[in-house]
Amino acid sequence: TALELIRNFSIIAHIDHGKSTLADRLIQACGGLSDREMKEQVLDSMDIERERGITIKAQTVRLQYKASDGVTYTLNLMDTPGHVDFAYEVSRSLAACEGSLLVVDASQGVEAQTLANVYQALDAHHEIVPVLNKIDLPAAEPERIKTQIEDVIGIDASDAVMISAKTGLGIGDVLEALVKRLPPPTGDETAPLKALLIDSWYDAYLGVVILVRVRDGILKTGAKIKLMSTGAVYQVDRVGAFTPKATTIGELGPGEVGFITAGIKAVADCAVGDTITEEKRPAAAPLAGFKPSVPVVFCGLFPADAAEFEHLRESLQKLRLNDASFQFEAESSAALGFGFRCGFLGLLHLEIIQERLEREFNLDLVTTAPSVVYKVVLTNGEEMELHNPADMPDVVRIEEIQEPWIKATIMVPDEHLGAILALCQERRGIQIDLTYAGNRAMAVYRLPLNEVVFDFYDRLKSVSRGYASFDYALDGYEPGDLVLLNILVNAEPVDALALIVHRSQADRRGRALCEKLKDLIPPQMFQIAIQAAIGGRIIARETVRAMRKDVLSKCYGGDISRKRKLLEKQKEGKKRMRQFGKVEIPQSAFLAALKTG
Ligand code: GTP
Repeated sequence: TALELIRNFSIIAHIDHGKSTLADRLIQACGGLSDREMKEQVLDSMDIERERGITIKAQTVRLQYKASDGVTYTLNLMDTPGHVDFAYEVSRSLAACEGSLLVVDASQGVEAQTLANVYQALDAHHEIVPVLNKIDLPAAEPERIKTQIEDVIGIDASDAVMISAKTGLGIGDVLEALVKRLPPPTGDETAPLKALLIDSWYDAYLGVVILVRVRDGILKTGAKIKLMSTGAVYQVDRVGAFTPKATTIGELGPGEVGFITAGIKAVADCAVGDTITEEKRPAAAPLAGFKPSVPVVFCGLFPADAAEFEHLRESLQKLRLNDASFQFEAESSAALGFGFRCGFLGLLHLEIIQERLEREFNLDLVTTAPSVVYKVVLTNGEEMELHNPADMPDVVRIEEIQEPWIKATIMVPDEHLGAILALCQERRGIQIDLTYAGNRAMAVYRLPLNEVVFDFYDRLKSVSRGYASFDYALDGYEPGDLVLLNILVNAEPVDALALIVHRSQADRRGRALCEKLKDLIPPQMFQIAIQAAIGGRIIARETVRAMRKDVLSKCYGGDISRKRKLLEKQKEGKKRMRQFGKVEIPQSAFLAALKTG
């Protein structure tokens, strides 16, 4: 395809502003799918995405659009996820395009992720077309939102496209704006092949599929390609594009986006951001890549039934085929036995992986409290990364503990600002900036990541009645007055419950955790002491009094089938428990640490 006839674009938006709905409409308008095939939100292919209504993996679709000038253009749409955990995937998609549709809900206005995404698009030198969505809603105020976009983001919104992705109103105007207002890609067909590896995933039928954007040269079926970072050589066995169905095409030229397969076994061999060139005529230098994504939250995943350990390992390996951003390594815990320490991009990412393991692989899991990555400087000058609080070296060997900080942007209606500032204060936040746009405030804070990973997002939503939006980026490490909080059950420390907390919060956290555990650990035949300790000092104590547990006591008379059911239920419950010494600790207890912020 001639370069002037190609437009590569992504859609950026705050979560729920209608990105996926608009993508569906564009696909429909270009006849990419028959009505029967047009399931709602075709781009969100994974079941979990569909159920939770969020977009996880960036997807791409090639569309043919006959414009009002009578010419047919090829439009490549790169879908991007909206949630903060996946900001990395957004930057990847943006690097493969020349322009963005900036979708803003005309009844809500600019939100935190609108800003974060638009800044990323500007960094990628994108031409931006503002699109005001949901103008069918009575609460829509397109004129006010236009002004807001100009004030807050600083881009011209006077010719923003007004649409309703739901009713289909204005979709034609979006398509015209794409061909008229976005620049075509540039590139040299005769130069040595240079293609950017945007994404890769494992497909049960196709094997490893690589998504590429060609800069220069031509990528053909049968060509011997070389991955420039490793030097590995493969022969391309298929070249294609998603229309949105995977469709074979002969080649991809400059400016084009599509997929290839080349008999590659693991996604881990296809580093995202790598440059693909041709073996016999390689490019002199690779394209600028991406920053690698680093896991920021770690937690332990243990099989509820110890016999499932190997099954868990295989399942993690399979998931990793599709998601190179999550890490795992075997670990053992005195309390929980053998399991894995896993690293994630954020809490939502953690939840998604956990849910996929339970659902797709039929595993019962015990999850320990998530922890951020600390840096510990030892008295002998050595520095170590701490992924697990239980691995904390002895205090006498520690010179200093450093924790990761973030820079957070929070947008909130005026009337809830007080509550948000109080929340940030409580979480050791430092205010950097506070500005207003209309009746919305924008607060910029530095916060320790540790204070955010647990339940900050939930609290933010609840204190603002759902109106606050939030986005963050990592912002370096700083020394902190941090201590290891141990939980002792009948005088023995339970490694899987150990937490690292700021000294100022240790007493409160310790007390809250003991109270919570007291309710969660069922009474047993003997008394159980639950204590929180920092070093040798006990800071809180609760007692679970002894009681005989008899599930049958609720059954009067002799309904045998009901009795059997209860006994079976109890057996099920047992599997999810962990024998600790003589004490059984239910799975919920290991997550309780989360909710006591
Ligand atoms: P993520 O994929 O989770 O980032 O969200 P999204 O931005 O893709 O939003 P999505 O398309 O899922 O739309 C969110 C909600 O808004 C859905 O319930 C849509 O039905 C609704 N919606 C989208 N466009 C319109 C519109 O033009 N009018 C109205 N009234 N509702 C809309």
